[in-house]
Amino acid sequence: DKIQHADITISAVSPSQYPDDGLTEIVLAGRSNVGKSTFINTMVNRKKLARTSGKPGKTRTLNFFNIENELFFVDVPGYGYAKVSNAEQNKWGRMMTDYFATREELALGILLVDFRHEPTDLDIQMYDLYKYYDIPVLIVATKADKIKKSKYNKHSSIIRKTLEIEPGDKLFTFSSMTREGRKEIWDEILTYVGD
Ligand code: GTP
Ligand code: MG
Repeated sequence: DKIQHADITISAVSPSQYPDDGLTEIVLAGRSNVGKSTFINTMVNRKKLARTSGKPGKTRTLNFFNIENELFFVDVPGYGYAKVSNAEQNKWGRMMTDYFATREELALGILLVDFRHEPTDLDIQMYDLYKYYDIPVLIVATKADKIKKSKYNKHSSIIRKTLEIEPGDKLFTFSSMTREGRKEIWDEILTYVGD
């Protein structure tokens, strides 16, 4: 359970910069500010490995985090931030599809959604993008510490319905504050990492 080694290998903007270690990659996508970078930090027990911010738009590149020389978490810029220009959005789209379309090391796509809110159209598009590229998907509902346990079923079912999650796809609740879901999500991730 103790993670000894976690570091950022590269911030990449184009495929020529992707690492060539051949390690399994797990990508994190989701709205700006949903908690992608915080998720990585919580999973690996580091406070500041991935830079986080109360302001959306912190992450701008594909950031490859080497974890124990076993896998990479790939942190990507969030979507849906209003102040982003069309040119920036196109850049984001190209960066993501370049990566999804060609990357054999990519074994799992995690879609982070905010457990408090109904998924947005962009969340739906992101789920569909994973499906389009045949990437196995895991849904992680973040900020679960903000929701009462008695409301969990209601919120989970809204997320399942809105995203039209396929029956085989799993949804986990997660909180960086309470660390809820951390162990279950690790167990699930490790089923995608061959050794
Ligand atoms: P971008 O890089 O802009 O796409 O954002 P991001 O998805 O990486 O979000 P980030 O990890 O920077 O977190 C955004 C804010 O949400 C920060 O203020 C975090 O402290 C907060 N946050 C993240 N996860 C949780 C959580 O589980 N619970 C609570 N209460 N706050 C969280
Ligand atoms: Mg981030």
